[in-house]
Amino acid sequence: MWRVKPLDAILATAEKKSLHRSLGPIQLTLLGVGAIIGTGIFVLTAAAAQKAGPGMMWSFVIAGAVCAVAALCYSELASMVPVSGSAYTYTYAVVGELLAWMVGWALILEYAVAASAVSVGWSGYFMGLLKSVTGITLPAALSAGPVWSLDGIIPHADISHGIINVPAIVVALAVTALLVIGTTESARVNAILVAIKVTALTAFIALTLPAIKTGNFSPFTPNGWFGPHGTSGLGVVGAAASIFFAYVGFDAVSTAAEETKNPQRNVPIGLIGSLAICTVFYLLVAAGAIGAVGAQPVLGPGGEIVQPGSVGFAAACATPENAARLVCSNEALAHVLRVIDWPTVGNALGLAANLALPSVILMMLFGQTRIFFVMARDGLLPEKLASIHPKWKTPHIVTMVTGVCVAIAGALLPVGQLADISNSGTLFAFFMVSIAVLVLRVKEPSRARPFKTPWVWVVAPLSAVGCVLLYFNLPIEAMMVLPVWGGLGLVIYFLYGFRKSHVGRGLIETHELDSDAPPSAVPPISGAD
Ligand code: ALA
Repeated sequence: MWRVKPLDAILATAEKKSLHRSLGPIQLTLLGVGAIIGTGIFVLTAAAAQKAGPGMMWSFVIAGAVCAVAALCYSELASMVPVSGSAYTYTYAVVGELLAWMVGWALILEYAVAASAVSVGWSGYFMGLLKSVTGITLPAALSAGPVWSLDGIIPHADISHGIINVPAIVVALAVTALLVIGTTESARVNAILVAIKVTALTAFIALTLPAIKTGNFSPFTPNGWFGPHGTSGLGVVGAAASIFFAYVGFDAVSTAAEETKNPQRNVPIGLIGSLAICTVFYLLVAAGAIGAVGAQPVLGPGGEIVQPGSVGFAAACATPENAARLVCSNEALAHVLRVIDWPTVGNALGLAANLALPSVILMMLFGQTRIFFVMARDGLLPEKLASIHPKWKTPHIVTMVTGVCVAIAGALLPVGQLADISNSGTLFAFFMVSIAVLVLRVKEPSRARPFKTPWVWVVAPLSAVGCVLLYFNLPIEAMMVLPVWGGLGLVIYFLYGFRKSHVGRGLIETHELDSDAPPSAVPPISGAD
């Protein structure tokens, strides 16, 4: 289980590729921005405010800083190993098969659960827009999942119950259908959607900054840095662990390395550039939202602090005096604009979110199917999953299985909880990348490193520690998912992958028609291996 896939075999795969290197630094940065900006800023700003109050500004800085150091580690590996599978492949080459499997398994949480979270985020904006424009509201039972807690579904007299989130199902299945029939988003469509998102956020900033009231910034950290003693996932750091979701997606850039001109130079530019642009936007948006309408958390009936998504929170938001609070909104940014008397721009921003969020779902689902695809091709998952549809030339089975699971999770869980679960998987993958970069420096010091992480012995440990810090500040439910999921992964590995692994069976092949680039960069998979 410590067997590694030799780096040279992986690199031979890359060299055999016939894919055209067409992406430059600007397209790559746009690709990153396209994958990053989504539900995190458009929706989870409300949950972050509930956890940290105005102090969520610090949360954005902390989460952005952890991503920046992780991006520097990603860059070194992506420039050395510019092939399929992202963190999974790097770990396979460096640390060994078992941990690679665990990373791939954790990436399922990152990508698939993130796709569910963005579907639910889309649903919130869709219903807000529907109501504002047509006056139609869907029944609560069909427009949200149930409110969960560790004890199961708790009935509460004050809450109108959701049962199933139909819009989230519809958007997840629609995007799945597009991927099955092989529709790939072109770089041009990606650029248009990025422009729409950036314009919407710029308009938000321009209208809210002049409306800032400094009084709205105090108290600045009503829940402190770590929340009250004995709670998990609250305070500034707890909000950072959740809002980390807003930055996820930058690793899509690393997966486009094979389509990139001069990847050694351009991949790091794309990764760090897209992260920097998003951080600036996020801080300005957060400042505008807090300053214009206030971002103080709502309290439970006994004056206690309540987790967003919890029963107590739903009850607090159901009271008339709290209904208009930022923290209670499912479409935070559109809500702010409506409150400060820009309803039309608020609706336009809602429309922008409705148009642009499906591309984030597409990106996440695509990433997921590619990770599955590479794992199946390595023999760690049944090869049937990697079979290609004869007409559409897409890995249709794995795409459909993933899409249905994504739709089910989106139907039943709230966006904040989904994002937290996704973060637990992502933080594990980033942690492993930070370790892998150091292991490789020791094991193969003389291998060519087109991009070297600066100050690697400081940056990589910082990244690893940052990931651990954020992980342990997730709500307890999300934290628990990773070990449970990991345990399940171990069982599957020892029952299946351990025996079937191609590396284990001595089959080390290279793949000519192999690509892991995101949909805006490549045509569909054009042949089975
Ligand atoms: N960063 C992406 C989003 O916020 C996943 O939707």
